[in-house]
This record gives sequence, C-alpha cells and structure tokens, in this order.
Amino acid sequence: MTDLELPEGLTLVDSPLPGIKVDTPKASGLVYFHGAHVAEWTPAGERPVLWLSESSVYEDGKAIRGGVPLIFPWFGGGASGGLKPQHGFARLQQWKLKNAKISPTGNVTIQLALGGAEVDPELSGNMPRDYNLEMHVTMGRTLILQLIVTAGDAPIRFEEGLHTYFAVGDIKQASVEGVEGAAYTDRVTDQGGTQDGAVRFTGETDRVYESRQFLARINDPAWGRTIQIEKVGSAQTVIWNPWIDKSKAMADFGDDEWTGMVCVEAVNTREQAIILGRRQRHLMSQTISIQH
Ligand code: BG6
Repeated sequence: MTDLELPEGLTLVDSPLPGIKVDTPKASGLVYFHGAHVAEWTPAGERPVLWLSESSVYEDGKAIRGGVPLIFPWFGGGASGGLKPQHGFARLQQWKLKNAKISPTGNVTIQLALGGAEVDPELSGNMPRDYNLEMHVTMGRTLILQLIVTAGDAPIRFEEGLHTYFAVGDIKQASVEGVEGAAYTDRVTDQGGTQDGAVRFTGETDRVYESRQFLARINDPAWGRTIQIEKVGSAQTVIWNPWIDKSKAMADFGDDEWTGMVCVEAVNTREQAIILGRRQRHLMSQTISIQH
C-alpha cells in the first residue's frame, strides 16, 4: 500500500477502505486514500467536528457520505448540468500517499496526490489528462485542508470544492455567520437572493454564496461550541442541509441524520471556475478550529 514508514500515532488501516488512522495527544482522525477523503477529525477532549453518516457506503465508485469529499473538476453536474459522476471524479479515485509525518509540536501532516493521467478515461469527460492534484491535510488542535491543482503543459479549466460536513448538536438551533450581505443562488428554488443576517435552518437549504469572506462561523448552542472556518482561494461558499424529504431519498444518509449536520463548503464554480496557464498552481484551503 505504501513504502513510507509511519511514525507512532499513525496506523495504516485497510477496512472499510485503505487509509491512515491518526491517534495523537492532540487529535484523532481518519484519512482514506479513496478520494483523499478526510473522514474524521476530533481534537482531544472535543466531540467529533466532522460529521460522518452511519449509512455511508464504502465502495469503489461511490462517494463517502460525510467528512470532506473533494469536488473536482466539476460541481454538481457541471455548468451544462449533465456531467457524471456528480461533483466530478476526484472523490472516487484512489489517491497515492506521498508523505505522512508528525511535527515536533505534534501536528500530523498527510499528503496525497492524483495525476490526471491516472484517472479512468471513462470518468474524465472533456478534462485534459495532464495536471496534478495534491491534498495536504494537517491535523492537530486545528485541521488544515489544502487542495492544490497544478496544470501540465497546457492550460486547464476546472471547478472545485472542499465539501466539508460539520457535526452540530441541533441544526434547528444552529446558525452560520460569514455570508451576510452576499448574493446567492438557491439550488432548491433556482432563485437568486441576498443573505440577510446569519443563515438559520428551517427547511432544505442548498445555496451557493458569492463570497470570498475569509472567516465563517457555525454557532452551535446545543453543543455549546462554535466551529471557525477560515478559507483561502475560494470565491464561493455552499451551505447545505438536506432536511427531511431529501434525507429520506438518499440511500446513504440516515432518515434522521439531517438534524446533526451542516455542510459549509469552499468552492469555485461556474463563472468562478479556475483557469490555469501552463504549469500554474492554484491552492484552495479551509482551516478549521473550535471555540467555546
Ligand atoms: C452540495 C450541493 O454541494 O452537495 C447539493 O449543493 C448536493 O445540491 C450535495 O445535494 C450533496 O451531493 P452528493 O453528490 O454528495 O449527494
């Protein structure tokens, strides 16, 4: 699986999928090679910060429901709406482990990579195959997620997202700050609007906000904590909760699990798709921490 020698605190796992389990004084966590998928992160003494469905499927060709699915190179069905697989292929591919270490201060770094040429041509669509993806994960009291795209010899255009699922005590009491005043497209009603105050949840919520705002906060009174999310390199934020009917309609999502989660995603889609010239790189990141 890997020739790397892992330091104490990091263990290879192979079930339900191959990956690395993290267990250090600062945090526990789990990263799968399938999709370079961060499935769990729990700073010591805290409740889990990432939400992971008990109904998730762990199979080749299927996305994990929860944690941090990567969206690349198209969001949803792409601008035309007809592209498959939904949200692109990066979350379905087997990534290569490049590095896994613990710093002198006890923070874990795990780096994974995927070359465009390694992607199943049937899934690649019109995407050229000469580019490289890297996912750098740093886990300690803070979680840093960095998705780095490097173009090959020709320019590329792509959409991308860190589709992060957060655990909350009760979505009905929770709110998200950081997109006040931002224009949005509502994917449920297909209408536009402008956000008035913090986002509160009273029904299915699926909005793409035009927002480069560095800082967002999930206020979670039920669990007495605030999740702070800083982002870089992202022009839009998606906020998603499927609520009752959509949860029931998804086979890999428990009927009642919607009460305990919200997605706050850093994305670049549609007019904000990224265009890279030859050999150019683009970094998009989320840095996540907890406050009480
Ligand atoms: C969000 C989209 O990013 O992802 C939603 O805005 C979508 O429309 C959700 O339902 C989940 O997507 P998937 O493919 O993981 O079920």
